[in-house]
Amino acid sequence: MIHNEKVTKILYGGDYNPEQWPEEVWQTDMQLFAQAGIDVVTLNVFSWAALQPNEETYDFSKLDKIMQMASSHNLKVCLATSTAAHPAWMARRYPDILRTGPDGMKRKFGARHNSCPNSPTYRKYAVALARQLARRYGHYDNLVAWHVSNEYGGECYCENCEKAFRVWLRKKYGTLEALNHAWNTAFWGHTFYDWDEIVLPDLRSEEFMYGSTVRTNFQGISLDYRRFNSDSLLECYCLERDALREVTPQVPVTTNLMGYYYGLDYQKWGKEMDFISWDSYPEYGEPEGKNAMWHDVMRGAGGGAPFALMEQSPSISNWHAYCALKRPGVMRLYSYQAVAHGADTVMFFQMRRSVGACEKFHSAVIDHVGHGETRQFRELAALGRELKQLGGLTLGGRTPAQAAIVFDWDNWWATSLSAGPSVEINYPEEVYRWYDGLARHNIPVDFVGVDQDLSGYKVVFAPMLYMCKGAHHQALTRYVEEGGTLVSTYFSGYVEEHDLVVCGGYPGHLKKVLGIWVEESDALPPQEHNCFTWNGKEYPARVLCDLLHLQGAQALACYGAQFYAGMPALTCNRLGKGASYYVATSSDREFYRDFVGHLRDTCGLEPVHDTPEGVEAALRCNGQGEFLFFLNYNDAPKGVRLARSGVELLSRRQYQAGDWLELEGKGVAILHTAGEGHRG
Ligand code: GLA
Ligand code: ZN
Repeated sequence: MIHNEKVTKILYGGDYNPEQWPEEVWQTDMQLFAQAGIDVVTLNVFSWAALQPNEETYDFSKLDKIMQMASSHNLKVCLATSTAAHPAWMARRYPDILRTGPDGMKRKFGARHNSCPNSPTYRKYAVALARQLARRYGHYDNLVAWHVSNEYGGECYCENCEKAFRVWLRKKYGTLEALNHAWNTAFWGHTFYDWDEIVLPDLRSEEFMYGSTVRTNFQGISLDYRRFNSDSLLECYCLERDALREVTPQVPVTTNLMGYYYGLDYQKWGKEMDFISWDSYPEYGEPEGKNAMWHDVMRGAGGGAPFALMEQSPSISNWHAYCALKRPGVMRLYSYQAVAHGADTVMFFQMRRSVGACEKFHSAVIDHVGHGETRQFRELAALGRELKQLGGLTLGGRTPAQAAIVFDWDNWWATSLSAGPSVEINYPEEVYRWYDGLARHNIPVDFVGVDQDLSGYKVVFAPMLYMCKGAHHQALTRYVEEGGTLVSTYFSGYVEEHDLVVCGGYPGHLKKVLGIWVEESDALPPQEHNCFTWNGKEYPARVLCDLLHLQGAQALACYGAQFYAGMPALTCNRLGKGASYYVATSSDREFYRDFVGHLRDTCGLEPVHDTPEGVEAALRCNGQGEFLFFLNYNDAPKGVRLARSGVELLSRRQYQAGDWLELEGKGVAILHTAGEGHRG
């Protein structure tokens, strides 16, 4: 955890690259940092070539100076290991370090995140560098965390990876019979008789492009490849982590994740990290709830513990299609949104805008103009002052959630690799529809993996649980029997963990807990929809419409059109002390809001506060009390009539229950109620 005795406030700062600048500039930076209330810098993210100019030599002279400068200016340091981009000499001497793309093209030196995760050279030198850094800088008492590599990601399809894949498969399946069965290789006569016949499922093999998405002929091998690739990169992380831990067991280790990132199973990664950190780059115009959801998914990957917002942009991100400025107040609003959802740091990419290469138009705390007389800097400095004044009160706070959403990377991979039933099938989008429904009631939610205990939750949502792995269906059934409420949707329960269909009727092992049998499903093109009426209101039915039969459940709503008009679109099954709902189709925002409203009333889900449209209320609790965050995403001012009394921490005003709290457009308030935070 970054929340340790060295950290007494929300750390404020970000990625700093003084090595890209002459030393005269460093002094200006230090002054501007002090002016902006910056107290943490992430150093050394891309310095491998500088630190190791050749195979025999390490050169830490510049980093020594930088570390000393940070320390003498009271800056905490998050020290990166620099292993996200290898030196050019290494690529030339050891081509095994270069990745091979899905098209079979061997890469040359260039770009970043370019090292083959199974390259013996990469692993050897990355770990050696991490160890050197730990030995040299581990004693600095301003060192708050190790930042391993940077945004692990991408794939490699080289021969080393192919060999490692076979080893991974042998360990997983034991025998070729088991593997052939799991991948259903009898289809198209793909039976393997020797492990060495297995090749990576790249674009020359099983996979192909279908528009802009990757499809596969064999889901089994493609799924296993994604699991393997995520594991390979995770192994790289763990090797560095272990080297660091050996030398500095007291310093927590993290790597910056990317939230909405398909390629890595972050729930598995979270188990290996001392705390979660992630980089948040919402696009201009995107609903704020989307970003809030990824904050929550990331918090879930860390078991609910606070996380670090490792990067966000002060204003524009050069890689967005349209580099719209963050409007006045938005940087502050997004910073507090992160804190409201569990962040204990507010950090940026980057501290000084670079002069060359592809990120020179990425915003920074210090702009090309080089002084602090800019709108953006003034906003940053104002937030720096505010965070100083806020101090450490909110640190360590947890979100008391009574609802959970099951989120599973295997399921994300499996649904998107599935050939059929519709290109509109989109797992994170469907999850977001439910998240949005909850958010519009200010009902906090935890994201849980398939192995997590559910007993503490009043309602568990398992949207689009296409792949129901291992004994997960039993855990869900037990949860309902013991009094829980489960919500499941269309495209659930079809396959087990190898993507083999569970025969005997859909939704497979979930048939019993849901009390239904889905006989067929109708995939509607985006311009068409069916409809259903529930509680006297008509809603659209979209994407997929299941044609289902009741097997114990009751119909709550039926389709209004098509040859299946009158068949159930929404069901409820009472089982043991609990109930499970099935929503047989996808609908519009109003439906999710209304349906969550029904669950709020029937299951006692408590909203953290009432707010007007476009104002979010979120809650964190720690030993200092409860912190109720109000985030006004509207341009216009909004008022909230407080249901409780407390001190608003940013204005230091005392409020009584019944008072109006006024939020300016894009404004934020944090109401603190002292005492133990007990909700949830
Ligand atoms: C990522 C990287 C940074 C930088 C930013 C730009 O998050 O970690 O190095 O490239 O994107 O947005
Ligand atoms: Zn490789």
